[in-house]
This record gives sequence, structure tokens and C-alpha cells, in this order.
Amino acid sequence: MTTDPRLLRRRAFLTAAGAAVAGAAALPVLLRAGGPDLPTDRPELPDLPEIPLTTDADGVRVARLVAESTGTGLAYNGTSPGPLLRVREGDTVRVEFTNTVDAPSSLHLHGLPLTPEVDQPLHHVSPGESHTQEFPVAEGCAGTHWYHPHAHGDVERQLLAGLAGPIVVEGPLDREVPALAAADDRLVMFTRAGRDVVANGVDQPRITARSGLTRLRLLNSTAGDHLLLGCLREDGSAVPTHLVTTDVGPVEHPREVEEVLLAPGERAEVLVETVEAGRLALVRLPYSVYGPGGETNEERTLAVVEVPAGHAPMPPPDRLLPVEELDPADAVRTRQVVFGATPDGSFTIDGRIFDMDRVDAEARLDTLEIWEVVNEHGSDHPFHLHSYPVQVLDRDGVPEPYRAWRDTVNVPAGSTVRLLVPFRHGAGRTVYHCHILNHEDLGMMGVLEVTG
Ligand code: C2O
Ligand code: CU
Repeated sequence: MTTDPRLLRRRAFLTAAGAAVAGAAALPVLLRAGGPDLPTDRPELPDLPEIPLTTDADGVRVARLVAESTGTGLAYNGTSPGPLLRVREGDTVRVEFTNTVDAPSSLHLHGLPLTPEVDQPLHHVSPGESHTQEFPVAEGCAGTHWYHPHAHGDVERQLLAGLAGPIVVEGPLDREVPALAAADDRLVMFTRAGRDVVANGVDQPRITARSGLTRLRLLNSTAGDHLLLGCLREDGSAVPTHLVTTDVGPVEHPREVEEVLLAPGERAEVLVETVEAGRLALVRLPYSVYGPGGETNEERTLAVVEVPAGHAPMPPPDRLLPVEELDPADAVRTRQVVFGATPDGSFTIDGRIFDMDRVDAEARLDTLEIWEVVNEHGSDHPFHLHSYPVQVLDRDGVPEPYRAWRDTVNVPAGSTVRLLVPFRHGAGRTVYHCHILNHEDLGMMGVLEVTG
């Protein structure tokens, strides 16, 4: 029996990363000394401006994004974080991207399940050039996504300089689940500003709850910070929080969670019960990317949720939308992908540094594979695959307790995560990589070729 509180916590709680332990609910609530930091007089969380979409003669919804230099940094359409791209499932969308930055860049729509032909992660847009992506917004991908550059070798710098923005896809989830339709809907996009993680560009903003249920769309668009998030009352106890979506769509039944681990690139939407008047802290909890017992970040309040008196209780829904069940027995193969590093500080997959002219993995369209992602390195690496959403099968042999579609899955130091990967909707050449952008820039990326 261990006495390390971090270990206990990691075992005792259910996280979005799926670490479920039987009997977790019976364990005492957070092992912590006091209440969270609750700063006062903070500015309200700003809503990010929305990109005005136009509709062309064919009914295509058109959005324009320009990457530009602001003098002190980089921005999309003049703002950082970039403006919100809001689309609906079933829309046909055309995103026209222009690069006016003084370096090759590109626009990757992270989370929209686009075919390799549309996504083209290896295509760079030269200064002064434009590039267009036109696509139908897939059914079932309602949720919170984002966009960022993908110019290999320079991604981290461009993101830290200001190039990242949010995407919200609306769908039946938002209309057909009454509790979601009635909840106060807040997008909280985390980026890094200097040493601090900020929300929608603001340090420790206030979120004034506008109803008895608050839907927090949590988006980790930092370049490399794992965010273990929790919502705490003044006395340090956890507020009932219900996980409703992971990266690429809803879970079937909301799951009560006390913590959500968001690796860089990852999203989760949670419903927080905001009925009791008072102040809550949305807190970044200590987490070690070096495995249990490793050095952690310090706890820090990322936002203060103010709950005014008078909100009627709104029960969270007990059912969202069905999530397709994949049968591992249908897999045509199991493929191993190994994260590692070289002694001189490069990061590798299967012992190799990224080469855009080399195909590292070949697969057939309309097949299912199991990808066994092995992290042999001493720190966590979030696995990200373009174009083909995945489901987690198990983590270190522990079956995933619920079904959900994801595009980014944390693989903790020294562990193995098995994924179900169906190749659907389009063939072509794409990439998989670690979503710590410095690691990606330094070579932790591979090329996947899917043939029809
Ligand atoms: Cu969000 Cu290949 O990236
Ligand atoms: Cu990594």
C-alpha cells in the first residue's frame, strides 16, 4: 500500500483519461490541506469573437482566416487567441486561409475529422500564399475543437507567438439534450502566456454562472502543458462535475468526475452544477508528467466561477447520444508505435526521427486496426492521429470504462495504451505525432499512408 498522495489520487479518481477504479466513489474527497486560491475582482471571461461566415451560391459556408504579424506576435484575423469558428454538423464549409506571416505556415483544423486530401498536414503555405479547405462537417463530431499551424519545425514557435483559435461544432447533441440546450455554454481555451496558463487570453478570469448548470468547453491549446483540472469549493471539496464530451463527440452517459486530465491538444466538456451560491475555483491540480512520484506543477486557480443566488437546480442529463461500439475482433492487425528519445535530445517514434518523405505506416481504407502505443520514455507523450478518430481500448491492460471518440490520447511515462483505429471516409497520406509541439518539431512524428 502506497502512501504517496499523488498515487492515491491518481488511483482514486476517474479522469477523462479513463483511469477508473472500482469503489472510487467510496473514497474520501480530495486529500488537500486547505481551500483553493480564489482571487477577487477578476475580469469576466471574455467570449472570443466569432468569424462571420458567408454563404455562397451553392450553400457552402465560407470562413476566412489570415495569419498575420501584429508587431509583437502573431494572430489570426488580428486576434490572439484567434476568433471562434462556429459550424454545424452537416454544413459544407470552406475555410480560406492566407498566410501573411514572414515564414511558412498552415492551418490545421484539429478535431474535425477531415480526409487526408483536405487536411494535408504536410502542405506548407508560403508567405503571401493562400490555401483552401472545403469539407462536409461530419455527423457526430459536435463539440469543441481548434485550429493551429502545422509547419513542421516551427509549430511551437508559431503557436506560442499567438497562432491558435477555437472551433465549435454544433449538432443534435446541443438541441436534443434539454439539459445541454439550457446550460450556460462557456468556451474556455487555455493557452500559455509567459509562465501562466490563461483562459481566453485572460489570467484567472471570473466566470459568472448564468444558470444552474454550466457547460465548460475545456480546450488545452497550450504547446506542451498537461492540465489536470478540477473544480473546487471554497473549502476545497470537489463540485459535482459531469464529463459530456471528449475530443470528437459525446460520451453516451455523462460520467461524474472529480478531475479531468487534458494533455496538450485535448478537449473535454463538463457540466458543473452551479446552484449553491458561492465561489468555485477551476484549478490546475498538481500533475507529474514524469510518472507517479515525479516532479509536479504547482496548484493554480485558472478561473473563478461565481455562482449567484437563485439558480434553480438543473439535473444533468443521464443519457447523451449513442457511441458506436467497435469490435476488436474485427481488427486486421495490431501495430506497435513506440515513443522514445535519442541521447542528444531528439524525440523519436519507433527509434526514428520524422522524415516527410518516408512512409512509416501503411493501412487499408475501410479496415480496423489496433494501435499499441508504447511510451518507453520517462515522460508523458500525447499521441495524436490526423483524419481518423480513435477509441481507447485499454490502458496498461485496464479496459477503458466507457466508449468515446478521441484524436489525442495521453500515453503516460512508461505505459502502453491500445487504440482502436478505423480508417474511414478517405484515403491519403497523413501524420501521427506527439502533441507536445516541441517534441513534434524535433521529430516525434510519423507518416501514415492509407490506400483505398
Ligand atoms: Cu493539433 Cu498534427 O496537430
Ligand atoms: Cu512528446
